[in-house]
Amino acid sequence: MKILIVGSGGREHALAWKIAQSPMVKKIFCAPGNPGIAEVAECVDIEAENIDGLYNFAVKQKIDMTVVGPEDALIAGIVDKFKDGHLNIFGPGKRAAIIEGSKAFAKTLMRKHDIPTADFKVFEDLKQAKKHLTACEFPLVIKADGLARGKGVFVCKTPEEAGKHLDGIMKEKIFGCAGDKVVIEEFLAGEEVSILAITDGNTILPLPSVQDHKAVYDSDKGPNTGGMGAYSPVPLITEDMHLSIEENILVPVIHAMKRENRTYRGVIYAGLIITSAGPKVLEFNARFGDPETQVLLMRMKSDLVPLLLSTAKNTLEEVEIEWHDCASVCVVMTSKGYPDAYEKGFSISGLDSIKALDNVQVFHAGTSMKDGKVITNGGRVLGVTALGKNIPEAQKAAYGAIQKLSFEGAYYRRDIGAKAMHQKKK
Ligand code: AMP
Ligand code: GLY
Repeated sequence: MKILIVGSGGREHALAWKIAQSPMVKKIFCAPGNPGIAEVAECVDIEAENIDGLYNFAVKQKIDMTVVGPEDALIAGIVDKFKDGHLNIFGPGKRAAIIEGSKAFAKTLMRKHDIPTADFKVFEDLKQAKKHLTACEFPLVIKADGLARGKGVFVCKTPEEAGKHLDGIMKEKIFGCAGDKVVIEEFLAGEEVSILAITDGNTILPLPSVQDHKAVYDSDKGPNTGGMGAYSPVPLITEDMHLSIEENILVPVIHAMKRENRTYRGVIYAGLIITSAGPKVLEFNARFGDPETQVLLMRMKSDLVPLLLSTAKNTLEEVEIEWHDCASVCVVMTSKGYPDAYEKGFSISGLDSIKALDNVQVFHAGTSMKDGKVITNGGRVLGVTALGKNIPEAQKAAYGAIQKLSFEGAYYRRDIGAKAMHQKKK
């Protein structure tokens, strides 16, 4: 088979690494890819948002299966275009990907179908949104409706702070039309966990629990990022809680989408918060998480390709997923300054020394090649991902590997996985 992967981050490198192990696969292309991905795939110079370019490439190369990493292409309708052309593609169509593309849509769907989530109201008018603040308890959370690269959510402690963010989103339009609507919602306290599931719209196969670390600094301080690291499994998510998340969140949302004539196929990512009243949904994403996918795919024993194919062909009920009975930790190395401004172009050393370690993979994210050398080219640069018998061992292996890697201004959190050690099972 020939596979095309769309995207260029650590998530796509992990997908390429896993897919390359399948005996079913002869050739992998990745658009646009990165130097790490280039070790297992042929990178082609087509941007992830260029749907027509990707489609024409897939037709010309007779691609058997396309896998889409980032949300933009999904929300813009890449899956519909490929399906209209009778090409296999993994991911939800445009009507289903709206579950990530519009927070107002997702919240309204959850309310209608009794899926546990924070209480909320949607506003299209700035004055009315501000008036609503006078009746709210603080802290509360303000969210731009559309895609905002993970920057459109504000936890506000005071009405003044909330008013300032409403102005930014709705008046100054800092996120463009993504701020035409806002969601104002109740603040929830608890640990955050990601539960992803693969579904063809009928069968739902939940993946093991995983915890991202969104804040840039240790102890969850500082601004949110795309994700500074992840670990799996999450001790807090007992087997019973995992089952209850499947029953009360994953199954209802997939059925709800079907009833709304928005059949969902692909991977659904539930961003959850485990409150004292049980798990509640913060958001749904229409794609694999990053860095969640790095740890999950390291733990996956089964071949990923039959899973992807069965999802695209609606035959997932015939498939089971096996997992390695171990833990995984991914520590993201970033450029100094991320998630704000940062410099690029620094040479990365030590990558070859990691290749000898069989329990560690370094997934490239923001890297590129210059004069035959791998250099930094983004905020999140590398995802150093390790397996171990348990979280402490995986953690030790990941941080051990990091000591061998360096580039100017390299930064990483020192506490990825530490929360697993303090969690009490609920
Ligand atoms: P979202 O994109 O909706 O997942 O929000 C991004 C981040 O904002 C989450 O990972 C949480 O840390 C925080 N957040 C979002 N909604 C809430 C909420 N209702 N209560 C507390 N924190 C929240
Ligand atoms: N790690 C967060 C995300 O993929 O959205």
